[in-house]
Amino acid sequence: MSFLLQILLALFISLLGGLYVLGALRRRRPGEPPLDKGPIPWLGHVLEFRRDTAKFLERMKKKHGDIFTVQLGGFYFTFLMDPLSFGSVVKEARAKLDFNEFAKHLVKRVFGYHPIEDDHKLIQAASNKHLMGDGLVLLTQSMMNNLQNLMLHSIGSVSDGDRLWQEDGLFAYCYNIVFRAGYLALFGNELDKTSGSVEKAREVDRKESDELFREFRKYDQLFPKLAYGVLGPFEKMEAERLKRLFWDVLSVEKVATKENISDWVSESQQVRDERGVHKSMQDRHMFLLLWASQGNTGPASFWLLLFLIKNPDAMQAVKKEVDEVLHETGQEVKRDGPPINLTRDMLLKTPVLDSAVEESLRLTAAPVLTRAVIQDMSLKMDNGREYKIREGDRVSLFPYTAVQMDPEIHPDPHTFKYDRFLTSDVGKKTEFYKGGKKVKYYTMPWGAGVSMCPGRFFAVNELKQFVFLMLTYFDFELKNPDEEIPDIDVRRWGFGTMQPTRDVPFKYRLRF
Ligand code: HEM
Repeated sequence: MSFLLQILLALFISLLGGLYVLGALRRRRPGEPPLDKGPIPWLGHVLEFRRDTAKFLERMKKKHGDIFTVQLGGFYFTFLMDPLSFGSVVKEARAKLDFNEFAKHLVKRVFGYHPIEDDHKLIQAASNKHLMGDGLVLLTQSMMNNLQNLMLHSIGSVSDGDRLWQEDGLFAYCYNIVFRAGYLALFGNELDKTSGSVEKAREVDRKESDELFREFRKYDQLFPKLAYGVLGPFEKMEAERLKRLFWDVLSVEKVATKENISDWVSESQQVRDERGVHKSMQDRHMFLLLWASQGNTGPASFWLLLFLIKNPDAMQAVKKEVDEVLHETGQEVKRDGPPINLTRDMLLKTPVLDSAVEESLRLTAAPVLTRAVIQDMSLKMDNGREYKIREGDRVSLFPYTAVQMDPEIHPDPHTFKYDRFLTSDVGKKTEFYKGGKKVKYYTMPWGAGVSMCPGRFFAVNELKQFVFLMLTYFDFELKNPDEEIPDIDVRRWGFGTMQPTRDVPFKYRLRF
């Protein structure tokens, strides 16, 4: 073979290799879902996906139907959009569809944490023990104490001045309070003896948690770009600074100087220590726990309160229920009386508020749930059709579009209906239908299956405690009663609870 021919052959082979890497040679094989590789080699549809995930997936659904494979940044993602078929993904064995394989890359990139072998099992074990059942009783109490410290600290010395209206953004206010109270409940309080008195320690908690929240918000705003790996050079430096700050503030050493540290946090640290995880990695894991626990509940509390304010019937029904629960336990909010004690048991007697919380999450919680395909497999749809899925691909669900906004399952899906999840005898409604069939996964703010949010019971409690305190201790209203509900910031689709495109000015004052 001539030298020239050899060079041409080598070029041809490397071109083929390059095209293969870029995915250009991938063809839909018989039995596979429709394949849509997108306009840009290797990147595929990632720009459109990132710009507005919900809109992109709606477009793909219209084009291809309930299942399709799209190329996103070098990976092939098969999206399943038929909620009646979700079980085939959610219940599939880990040997075929694995959550960890996908999650570990993200966790490394955004928190700098390198998961250990059975990391996911450890998180689940600690969460099942301490974020549910008996563990939740303690945590609820701790959350209550911290909410009272942040929201009602001036009540003992209340002067008429304190009862003047104060103004803030509703989002800024809700996120701030719920983040800080949740953080203190999980990561512990300042020791009385370090500060000299109970009151001084409470003041330190207020101040330090506020500073932490402000830094957290900066990281929060960078988060979507960080997760997609598209930060600009200055943003990268800022993200690095913030990561280091959180590793330091939440370091095992510093957290150990606190009291009332939740068992969830201390056990998570302890088991990693026992497994020989390096100290610096333990600090990074603390940051991961902070993010998982505090990134969603604050924004969720904003939407809930806003929907209640904008729907007077809902507000009235919730207020009535709150008053009844307090009355049943012989408690009354008085100017010089003791702070109300809101226990886990009391929070179990609020079906109307539960429905309002569920409805608010249906409208604003929008995770993308993803699994890595570990071996070639097939997905069976509810209509009986089976699709072949290739090893190395990803399978994803986006319940927001597929279920939560489906008008057949949830009529008038864009409207907040506080009683959507209530039966006629004020119980929890769980029966929703599509095409005459019962839909098991009728709303999925917490995800499902192996990665389902283990903090969901605590999160709902936090939201309910916050609403309880707002309704019993404060008068509050929007500065402009005709203010429209702001749009959802579409850049955050896929990352849990959505945030608004702008804040909503409101005013509040102590009632007593
Ligand atoms: C409104 C509030 C919350 C929402 C909407 C929410 C939502 C979610 C979702 C959708 C996932 C699954 C992600 C996936 O499958 O990729 C998740 C995971 C997780 N959540 Fe939450 N969450 C909330 C609050 C909390 C709280 C308060 C905690 C802890 C105290 C928590 C702890 C976790 C943890 C540890 C995971 C990872 C689970 C695993 O790896 O298996 N979450 N959350």
